Amino acid sequence: MTGAGIFGSLHGAIGRIGLGASGASEAPSFWLPGAASTTAEGVDRVFALIYGIALVFFLLIVALMVVFVVRYRRRPGRETGEGPSHNTFLELAWTIVPLALVVVIFWQGFRTFLDLATPPANAYEILVNGQKWKWTFTYPNGYVDERLHVPVDTPVRLVLSSEDVIHSFFVPSFRVKMDAVPGRYTKSWFRATKPGEYDVFCAEYCGTSHSDMRTTVVVHVPGEFEKWLEGASNLLAKLPPAEAGARLYTTRGCAQCHSVDGRSGTGPTFKGLFGHPVRLREGGSVIADENYLRESVLAPDAKVAAGYQPVMPTYKGRLKDAEITAIIEYLKTLEK
Ligand code: CUA
Repeated sequence: MTGAGIFGSLHGAIGRIGLGASGASEAPSFWLPGAASTTAEGVDRVFALIYGIALVFFLLIVALMVVFVVRYRRRPGRETGEGPSHNTFLELAWTIVPLALVVVIFWQGFRTFLDLATPPANAYEILVNGQKWKWTFTYPNGYVDERLHVPVDTPVRLVLSSEDVIHSFFVPSFRVKMDAVPGRYTKSWFRATKPGEYDVFCAEYCGTSHSDMRTTVVVHVPGEFEKWLEGASNLLAKLPPAEAGARLYTTRGCAQCHSVDGRSGTGPTFKGLFGHPVRLREGGSVIADENYLRESVLAPDAKVAAGYQPVMPTYKGRLKDAEITAIIEYLKTLEK
């Protein structure tokens, strides 16, 4: 088999497992989901390059090892003599070839890194916040959602931060991964190429429910994103308070810890809570009326229910008064 033949078959094999040298593919491969952003191309190219080089050398080394073991094994009449101690050609080859490969890998990686690190100036900005254990996304008009909605074919810049520990915002289909670090901002960006829904994961172990820290990116077709944002951010104006409250319950993180079906979670269930006595951690009890619920949203540590840890973050500054009222109205509908 000629060198070109070997390389051709290898290239074919690499292509079959989805690592064509042409870069990102919209079809899912053995390794990665289908690419859905412009960033994917560079990342996939570098991945394919390193993978290809590793594969070629793996096969070459293993094949030579087998050949040499068989061919130069110890046999009677073929005693070992003095081996060569120096070979200038070989020594130059094993220095220059890896050096060239490393330079190519560095160049491709650095180029892609610069692309990933430099959002276009006109990018649409969305704030991303990680906390144990959910993501929230704040849009330029102040609306907060638990899913990331973006317009297709538009550069979107993410400014990430964290409430507590390090999380990592990861969208496999976009090949975007960036840490969310408490006490500082990190940035990332992408341009989605295909409308649809894509998985978001947390890629940094952040505690018990790390693996549940998932959400979705919704990529809207042209024109739909603005409509969605306007509708979504107008909850209180559009819906009766209790219904708006039900929506806020799921979108603003209450549902993460408080069930509405009587099951006990990180926090007490909301079912049958309103108007009933709550036993407190430090003894005594209190009636769960409007004022107690409001206080529990704004100063969760003040009166913690018995049997629960004081782990709820305050929603001061994150929920408007009208939103808290709507949530309380929703709680009133959850009879025992
Ligand atoms: Cu957040 Cu893992």
